[in-house]
Amino acid sequence: MKIEHDLHMIKGDGDTSYARNSSTQRKAILATKHMVEKAMKGVFMELKPQSMVVADLGCSSGTNTLLFISEMIAMISEENTSDNNIRKCPMEVQFFLNDLPSNDFNHIFKSLGQFEQSIVQDCARIGLKPPPHYVAGVPGSFYTRLFPCNSVHIFHSSFSLMWLSQIPEHLDSTMNKGNIYIGVTTPPLVAKLYLDQFEKDFSRFLQFRCIELVSGGQMVLTFLGRKSNDVVHGGGMMNISIELLSQAVQTLVAEGRVEKEKLDSFNLPFYGPSVDELKQLVQQSELLDIIDIQAFELTFDPIDKSELKEGITTAPAIQDNVHEATGHNIAAGLRAVMEPLFASHFGESIIDDLFTLFACNVIRHLASAEEMSSVTAISLSLQAKVAR
Ligand SMILES: C[S@@+](CC[C@H](N)C(=O)[O-])C[C@H]1O[C@@H](n2cnc3c(N)ncnc32)[C@H](O)[C@@H]1O
Repeated sequence: MKIEHDLHMIKGDGDTSYARNSSTQRKAILATKHMVEKAMKGVFMELKPQSMVVADLGCSSGTNTLLFISEMIAMISEENTSDNNIRKCPMEVQFFLNDLPSNDFNHIFKSLGQFEQSIVQDCARIGLKPPPHYVAGVPGSFYTRLFPCNSVHIFHSSFSLMWLSQIPEHLDSTMNKGNIYIGVTTPPLVAKLYLDQFEKDFSRFLQFRCIELVSGGQMVLTFLGRKSNDVVHGGGMMNISIELLSQAVQTLVAEGRVEKEKLDSFNLPFYGPSVDELKQLVQQSELLDIIDIQAFELTFDPIDKSELKEGITTAPAIQDNVHEATGHNIAAGLRAVMEPLFASHFGESIIDDLFTLFACNVIRHLASAEEMSSVTAISLSLQAKVAR
């Protein structure tokens, strides 16, 4: 598996694209808006930059990428016009959108014209003027240096830093047979190799970003993670979904459509951390202070059940429909993220059947599950220590 080549979300805006199947990630961006706003205000008050440099790392393409930019623009136009900050020249913003080179940057760039029009209209509606702003793409791994020293005021990253730079070092095809991640039958040594790789990658990420951050700059980083230190079950629906996807591959192996060795040699380059693991790594780096850390649950459901009239939710037929809709939603969401990795390892020909089997597994699981299907997101607000 070549991460730089094979890890990318489904491109464009077709039915299976990431752009159309990333509502859970969108919820995370909306849920952390207050943390981004606090970071922006902190930088604004402390540094009063004439132009602010903001980098979104692991931006992907589609409405979520643009949502982050539009939120920042709205916040900065309010700040520019607030009584405390009347300036001769409004603060300008440079946005850098980073992702791996195989990301669909063209899709972002093509949508910028229409996006600009909507920004101007949205701001005018509330009597504001958008700040002068500029958008550029930065292809490359965030596990390498991406920007000059002391050049970025705010780093943002949402639902991206769980992706590792590689399959855990020393993990070979005999060690995690039948699994594609840390599953119920995974030996503890394999879980340890996953944690080791995450520690190595995240520590390197923090080191590089601290070099690139201006003194007084801030970061807001959101992970798909676990609500407890239990590495097999602590991620709730995150762990369950990957286990169910693993079972779908096992079914294809049993049907003779996928070789067993192919399954045994496939391990996701992914690790969902816990709050404790993240805290410990930031503290160990001795580079940053944690301003805030929050864990919250995001539901997968395409239908907000609270909007269903009371009583209706108890009707079994409606419940079945909700499970089915949720199951398909979860399968489409995972497919938009995982398909290129699976297609490169197992071949394109099994993809449709794999995700159909997976959707069935999820629907069956939801029908018997007692808990609501949700994943845990963890957000960190960080500021570089003053003496570096
Ligand atoms: C699930 S998407 C999240 C996209 C977007 N931030 C959102 O919230 O919808 C994860 C993104 O991280 C990117 N990514 C993973 N590893 C990366 C790396 N080492 N460097 C840069 N981007 C990476 C992937 O290519 C993908 O576009």
